[in-house]
Amino acid sequence: MILVPDLGRHISAGEGSPQGRDAPGHTTHSAADRLAEATGLAEAIDLPVADSVVVPVARPRPATLLGSGKVEELAEKVRDLDVGLVVVDHALTPIQQRNLERAWDTKVLDRTGLILEIFGRRARTREGRLQVELAHLTFQRSRLVRSWTHLERQRGGFGFLGGPGETQIETDRRLLQERIEKIRGELDKVKRTRALHRAGRAKVPYPIVAIVGYTNAGKSTLFNHLTGADVLSEDQVFATLDPTMRERELPSGRRVILSDTVGFISDLPTMLVAAFRATLEEVIAADAILHVRDISHPETEAQRRDVEGVLDSLFAETGHDQVAPIIEVWNKIDLVATSDLPDLEAAARRATTRDEAPILTSALTGEGLDALLERIDRHLASHDVTMTVDLPPTAGRLRHWLHENTAVVATEQRDGGAVRLTVRVPTEKHGRLLRLLTETGLSAEH
Ligand code: GTP
Repeated sequence: MILVPDLGRHISAGEGSPQGRDAPGHTTHSAADRLAEATGLAEAIDLPVADSVVVPVARPRPATLLGSGKVEELAEKVRDLDVGLVVVDHALTPIQQRNLERAWDTKVLDRTGLILEIFGRRARTREGRLQVELAHLTFQRSRLVRSWTHLERQRGGFGFLGGPGETQIETDRRLLQERIEKIRGELDKVKRTRALHRAGRAKVPYPIVAIVGYTNAGKSTLFNHLTGADVLSEDQVFATLDPTMRERELPSGRRVILSDTVGFISDLPTMLVAAFRATLEEVIAADAILHVRDISHPETEAQRRDVEGVLDSLFAETGHDQVAPIIEVWNKIDLVATSDLPDLEAAARRATTRDEAPILTSALTGEGLDALLERIDRHLASHDVTMTVDLPPTAGRLRHWLHENTAVVATEQRDGGAVRLTVRVPTEKHGRLLRLLTETGLSAEH
């Protein structure tokens, strides 16, 4: 169950004039927007949402945040719906969290806790998992260390989704601090060996196309539509950490690996930023990036800037000189009024992105997806290298490899049974071909 406390004009709970919230340029999200976003977040980790409620809070209570009448009313609901977890889309103090858990006899998670769960599940690399654990520990420490049962779990979730009334082990700041330092040390080591990660990545047989975007933009829907992943989704609930990379054939026959990434989220607590970035490792290694945007959303421009800003700093920090080419996908066009479409199409043609004009799609109806696949194809083809290789009759194996792994553009018979092949080599195969040529003692012209 999801609760969105609506503190209305009293949100800043303290000094400052209440009017401040309505000042121009102040970016507060409406309760309905927050509800939609929180629901999307919960669904992102396959938590079935039994109910979601906006709860007006006239005066935040130190003990329970919500008023006691509300707490009781909700207790009934929690019982009736047999809810196993209540997500409160607001920061809770440890005391508030514990009191609510007692009152409702169920696990309670606040916004940061929920986001941490998402990152924990999405983190694939060692660095990602360490970053998430570090964020989790920092979060715990900032809350004066409630329980740290998760420290004993080397694998699996990150601890907040245990049963209600989970053992409240004695808090121990010193141990927590030691653990934090140990993780920092490990992270340093992992970062120093990052080059090895990249070497591992070279083994991936196909180019990687990473799907990024603001939360709720439609990344997973697009991913599922393009890869048919939904067929399996029922079996995947809580089952695997890595359902997010799948193969797909493009119109030209080229195969790619599509990678769905964790959504960008507004108001990310600073302690989570590093963890969030670490879950985006495959974006750094990507051959192309699809930036999915909900073009029907009123804040779509601000969301675009947020996403691009994070990508830029992500690449800058990891020492990459440039962001992989970005193909903008303007999604949810089925929600755009027909009369507004021509304007949108004109804007798409005008838009100067880092690549070409954006592609308009509906991941829901499938509209525009063929054009998108063709665009990816074209993009990857533009990075192909054309080479001419003279093969003596003895180079049968190399010739076979070329036919299997490249597009043969021209074949010319030469004297003595030799053959000259002109081939288009996909970028990811280029290095391998050069090595094969060296091994065979041959060379090629570009
Ligand atoms: P996060 O996992 O939170 O980052 O979200 P996401 O970007 O993966 O979005 P997701 O695919 O889960 O879609 C969010 C919501 O938008 C779902 O309710 C989808 O059904 C809906 N949606 C996605 N694409 C479209 C579209 O083209 N049109 C319409 N009308 N709805 C869409």
